[in-house]
Amino acid sequence: MKKSVVFSFLVPCILFLSLFLICNPAISQDAAKASASLPDSINKIMISSCTPCHTSQGGLMSKSKMNLTEWTNYSPEKQKEKAAKIYSEINKGSMPPKMAREKRPETIPTKEQAEIIKRWSESFPAGTK
Ligand code: HEC
Repeated sequence: MKKSVVFSFLVPCILFLSLFLICNPAISQDAAKASASLPDSINKIMISSCTPCHTSQGGLMSKSKMNLTEWTNYSPEKQKEKAAKIYSEINKGSMPPKMAREKRPETIPTKEQAEIIKRWSESFPAGTK
């Protein structure tokens, strides 16, 4: 294969594919099952705002940071740490990410939902860390 062919065709293809894999949130998924190990009130908020990205079907970057499908496999310390992060991200207004907030403002957790998350995140027993 000629070098120019590789650069004009294959390279853009590979770039596009990797970007797609990294960024794409799952479009259709069984969200209700994805985070069933969370308390109902939290699960509901996660499903409406977070599971499109933060489950095993979500984007690589988001699920590598936090995968709600794997929640039961997280150690108690990790659950405590992630719960605190979940609240701080919501409180700062950084999750859902800016682009997702602009596209679907209805997925931004309400003040009441943020309060529920706050109380939940503070309910974890003091860890060993
Ligand atoms: C459109 C996809 C998308 C949605 C929806 C989304 N996230 Fe994220 N999230 C990401 C990506 C991508 C990252 C990794 C990059 C970063 O940290 O900015 C991330 C990172 C995080 C992290 C950082 C984890 C760590 O350990 O540093 C937390 C916590 C988080 N998200 C919580 C949430 C919560 C809570 C919601 C719902 C209110 C949510 N996310 C909705 C894409 C998303």
